[in-house]
Amino acid sequence: MNRVKIAPSLLAADFGNLQKEVEMVNESEAAWHHLDIMDGLFVPNISYGMPVVSTISKYATKPLDTHLMIVDPDRYIQTFADLGVYLLTVHYEACTHLHRTIQAIKASGMKAGVALNPHTEVSLLENILTDLDLVLVMSVNPGFGGQSFIPQTYKKVEKLRGMINEQSATALIEIDGGVSSANASKLVEAGADVLVAGSSVFKAENPAKMISELASSNLS
Ligand code: DX5
Ligand code: ZN
Repeated sequence: MNRVKIAPSLLAADFGNLQKEVEMVNESEAAWHHLDIMDGLFVPNISYGMPVVSTISKYATKPLDTHLMIVDPDRYIQTFADLGVYLLTVHYEACTHLHRTIQAIKASGMKAGVALNPHTEVSLLENILTDLDLVLVMSVNPGFGGQSFIPQTYKKVEKLRGMINEQSATALIEIDGGVSSANASKLVEAGADVLVAGSSVFKAENPAKMISELASSNLS
């Protein structure tokens, strides 16, 4: 089994010390930086926009994993590509023409992901799975950091892992919301490849050590 990738969510970082927080992730065992973009329409919260993404991009030395919680994400695909984003994830629930959106992300040179809200059934991705680089399974309702993990997620991950294997697809499975050392190993066992962690990392006494602990999930 491959080592799980950790993607710390900068939403929980101290924005007054953003450069320092990004550098902590650079120097840690994290694989990616996770960026959460919220528009106050698709989700009931507004996070941050292009100037902040540009600042993160300037200091980050690891790939930018960007999670768009916005309506009509096609409007900003080229902008995120220009800002140096590595992987752009859009929500299934926010895209009328998902296939077209995925192709547009790839045409702009980025990897493409699709996120599913907790109530969205994984089988809805059956016809597009082999086009995807990543499926993000939301384990809380999107919009806020610091919420409690929804246990139903384990079953969804197992089912998605089965679909990916069956189709010989290469999409990675990423879990986002309420991830901590209490559920990380079980998520890896269920089939997760990438774990997003906001509060559990940035509110920890030693964030880099917490990243390292999460990266060792299911290794013992
Ligand atoms: C929630 C975001 C998450 C969030 C995770 O809508 O997509 O990435 O920052 O934060 P925690 O790990 O605190 O649940
Ligand atoms: Zn996210």
